[in-house]
Amino acid sequence: MKNLKLGAFLLILLRLVTYCVEAEAQVCKPSGHIRGTLPPALCKKNDSDCCAQGKFYPIYRCSPTVSNQTKAVLTLNPFQGDVEGDGLCECDNECHSGDTPIVALSTGWYNGGRRCLNYITINANGRSVKAKVVDECNSSMGCDADHDYEPPCANNIVSASKAVWKALGVSRDNWDELNITWSDA
Ligand SMILES: *[C@@H]1O[C@H](CO)[C@@H](O)[C@H](O)[C@H]1NC(C)=O
Ligand SMILES: *[C@@H]1O[C@H](CO)[C@@H](O)[C@H](O)[C@H]1NC(C)=O
Ligand SMILES: *[C@@H]1O[C@H](CO)[C@@H](O)[C@H](O)[C@H]1NC(C)=O
Ligand SMILES: *[C@@H]1O[C@H](CO)[C@@H](O)[C@H](O)[C@H]1NC(C)=O
Repeated sequence: MKNLKLGAFLLILLRLVTYCVEAEAQVCKPSGHIRGTLPPALCKKNDSDCCAQGKFYPIYRCSPTVSNQTKAVLTLNPFQGDVEGDGLCECDNECHSGDTPIVALSTGWYNGGRRCLNYITINANGRSVKAKVVDECNSSMGCDADHDYEPPCANNIVSASKAVWKALGVSRDNWDELNITWSDA
């Protein structure tokens, strides 16, 4: 009897642990895929960033949960216009200069504009910089003319202006991709 109870208890405990591990690992799943359909010749930028014909790219409406130390990948955003190429940032329909610390966030973190014009704190390289959210890096669309035939954004991107990279003390040669953490400022 005792053993039976202990067994049941252990079983429940195991379930609980499994559940917690799953909940922890339950980051965010793709909400579908889009398929590259156009030949690279139509790629405006003529570089390897274009969607490959026939290849499937996952799309995301969610991003990993935000915490005090949200892990993300920092990319370089020219901000002569916006990431989507229509010259305007989504938050305020304006163009912004890359000389100020500004960022575009993946769709889930952009959160329908709820972080617009708010600041986030970016930590990397032993430094920290506050940057204003001005745009979305669309994780839910891509591989079309509107997005220069580029794949959808990953769901964990902080696409940052030159000013951010500079403030983090990253040498110019390395303004490409960097693991960072960020939080709402
Ligand atoms: C694209 O790049 C290829 C070689 O990488 C080059 O031959 C071609 O002229 C380029 N096209 C344009 C429109 O720049
Ligand atoms: C985040 O940091 C603040 C202060 O730095 C602290 O009060 C808060 O509990 C932290 N939240 C989490 C989820 O760690
Ligand atoms: C990003 O995709 C969503 C649809 O998933 C759309 O509503 C939004 O306008 C897109 N943003 C841009 C800048 O294209
Ligand atoms: C960045 O983080 C990812 C996942 O956490 C890891 O796989 C990768 O090795 C890291 N890259 C660098 C350059 O530290």
